[in-house]
Amino acid sequence: MPSLPSALDPAAPEYRQATAAMRAKLAELDGEHAKALAGGGEKYTERHRRRGKLLPRERIELLLDEDTPFLELSPLAAWGSDYPVGASMVTGIGTVEGVECLITANDPTVRGGASNPWTLKKALRANEIAYTNRLPCISLVESGGADLPSQKEIFIPGGAIFRDITRLSAAGIPTVAVVFGNSTAGGAYIPGMSDHTVMIRERSKVFLGGPPLVKMATGEESDDESLGGAEMHARTSGLADHFAVDEHDAIRQARRIVARLNHRKAHPDPAGLAEPPKYDEEELLGIVPEDLKTPFDPREVIARIVDGSDFDEFKPLYGTSLVTGWARLHGYPVGILANAQGVLFSAESQKAAQFIQLANQRDIPLLFLHNTTGYMVGREYEQGGIIKHGAMMINAVSNSKVPHLSVLIGASYGAGHYGMCGRAYDPRFLFAWPSAKSAVMGPQQLAGVLSIVARASAQAKGQPYDDDADAGLRAMVEQQIEAESLPMFLSGRLYDDGVIDPRDTRTVLGLCLSAIHTAPVEGARGGFGIFRM
Ligand code: COA
Repeated sequence: MPSLPSALDPAAPEYRQATAAMRAKLAELDGEHAKALAGGGEKYTERHRRRGKLLPRERIELLLDEDTPFLELSPLAAWGSDYPVGASMVTGIGTVEGVECLITANDPTVRGGASNPWTLKKALRANEIAYTNRLPCISLVESGGADLPSQKEIFIPGGAIFRDITRLSAAGIPTVAVVFGNSTAGGAYIPGMSDHTVMIRERSKVFLGGPPLVKMATGEESDDESLGGAEMHARTSGLADHFAVDEHDAIRQARRIVARLNHRKAHPDPAGLAEPPKYDEEELLGIVPEDLKTPFDPREVIARIVDGSDFDEFKPLYGTSLVTGWARLHGYPVGILANAQGVLFSAESQKAAQFIQLANQRDIPLLFLHNTTGYMVGREYEQGGIIKHGAMMINAVSNSKVPHLSVLIGASYGAGHYGMCGRAYDPRFLFAWPSAKSAVMGPQQLAGVLSIVARASAQAKGQPYDDDADAGLRAMVEQQIEAESLPMFLSGRLYDDGVIDPRDTRTVLGLCLSAIHTAPVEGARGGFGIFRM
C-alpha cells in the first residue's frame, strides 16, 4: 500500500507556532460551545430541574445506545446574533437501538424553548440531513412555539418544518415525536405530522389553542388537561400512540419504537476494524500556519485522517496545486480533493472535473479539503480560459450525485469555495476548523478593490480624493470582512454544520460517512451540464 510520507517536524518553530495559534483558537471555541451547553443559564436551568425535568442533552443521552457517540450539529447556531448561542435547540446524529437517527431537542430553558429565526434554520437543516441521508427523525419536543417578537421572520417560512415531517414520512423515513411539555399552536403539528407519538402524563400539552385563547375565540372555559393532556390524547383524541408515565418512560418507549422500525441501511458497515493513520492525529494542530498566506501541504492532513495513511494520488504531476486521490476513511472509500498552493488554475480545474466524474462512475463519496484563494486572475489566465475551466469544475461538483463532505481547513475564498463544494453546493456535511476563513475574497483585497473603485469614481467626477479618509475606510472594511470571515461567525449563520477540533476530523467524518451510507450511494452516470472544452 502506498503510505504517505510526512515531512512534518514537531520540533520546528513553524510547527510550534501553528500549534500554539490553533490551541488559542480552540480555547476560544470551547468558551463559545460552553455557552450553548449552558442553555438559558443557571436561573432557568435550576427552575427546570426543580420541576423534575431533564435537560435536552440529558434526554438525548438517555435515548441513545449506551456508550455510543452523538455528533452534535450546529452548536454555534445564532452566534453573533441577538439570540442565545445554540438557538434554543440541540440537533445531531446518534444511534438508537442500533439505528442511526437524526435527533432534535428543544431547549426549554432558553425563552421557553421558543423558535427564533436561527432555531428555524437549524431545524430545517436537521430535516434536510434526515431526508438526504434517510435517517429516522426523532423530535424531543418542549417549546413555546414561535418566538413571538420575531414572528415576522419565522411564521411564513416556518411552515416548512411541518411540510418536511410529512415529506420524510412519504419518503419512507420514519418520524417520531416525544412530547415533554408544551407543543402548542403550530407546534402541535410536530406530533400531528409525525408517524409515531409519545406523550407524558401531566406533562405533554398539545393543543392548537390554550385555555386563554379558547376563551377569547369561543368563550368556552377549559383547562390544559382536557384540551391537550397526554391522558386525553391517548384515550380520546387518539393523537398519542404511546402514553408514558414520566420522562424516562417516554424515552424508553421511543427506543422501543425505533427498535421496531425495521429501518435498514442501504449499505452494510465496512468489514473489520479500519487501520488508524500511521501518524499522530495530535499533529493536525500544527499543520495549518497561522498566516493563511503561507502554503502548506494538505497531504500532511490526509496522512493523519485516512486509514493507514494510504493514499493513491491521481495525476500527481498535473495541476499540482490541487491534490486528488483515493483513500479509505474508517473503511469507507473516499475520493479526496485538497488545495495545495491555494490558487486554482485551468489544469487544476480540469483535473478536478475529471476526478469528480470518476468518483461518480465508481459510486465513491468525495471529500473536499478547502484551502483556496479562488481561481487565478490575470490576462494570461483569462486568455487561457480560466472561466470555462473553473466552470467545468463547478459543473462537475454541481451535478455530481455521490455524497460530498467538505472541511474548511484554511482559506475558502471566491468561486474556489463553490468549486470545492461550498455550502450552496449541498455537501451532505460541511465542517470548519478554527483556522478556516471564508469570504468573497481576502479582507485586504476586498478593502483594496473598494478603494480603487472609489478613487476612480472620484476622478471621473473630477473630485479630489481624500487619502486619509481612504486609509481609515480601508482599515475599517478590512476589520469588518476579517470578522465576517471567521468560523464562529459563519457557523452562527448555519453556513456549516459545526466548527470542529482538527484532531476530531477523522472521527467526525467517519460518523458522517456511516450516516451517509444509510441512503444508497449512487453516482451520476451522465447528467452533467455541457462541459465547455
Ligand atoms: N416567544 C417569546 N418569548 C417566550 C415565548 C415565546 N413564544 N415563550 C416563552 N417566552 C419567554 C417568556 O417571556 C419568559 O421570558 P422572561 O423569563 O424573560 O420573562 C421565558 O421565555 C420563560 O418563559 P416562562 O413562561 O417563564 O416559562 P415556562 O416554562 O413557565 O412556560 C411556556 C413555558 C412555553 C409554557 C410559556 O412561556 C408559554 O405559554 N409561552 C407562549 C406559548 C405560545 O402561545 N406560543 C405561541 C405559539 S405559535
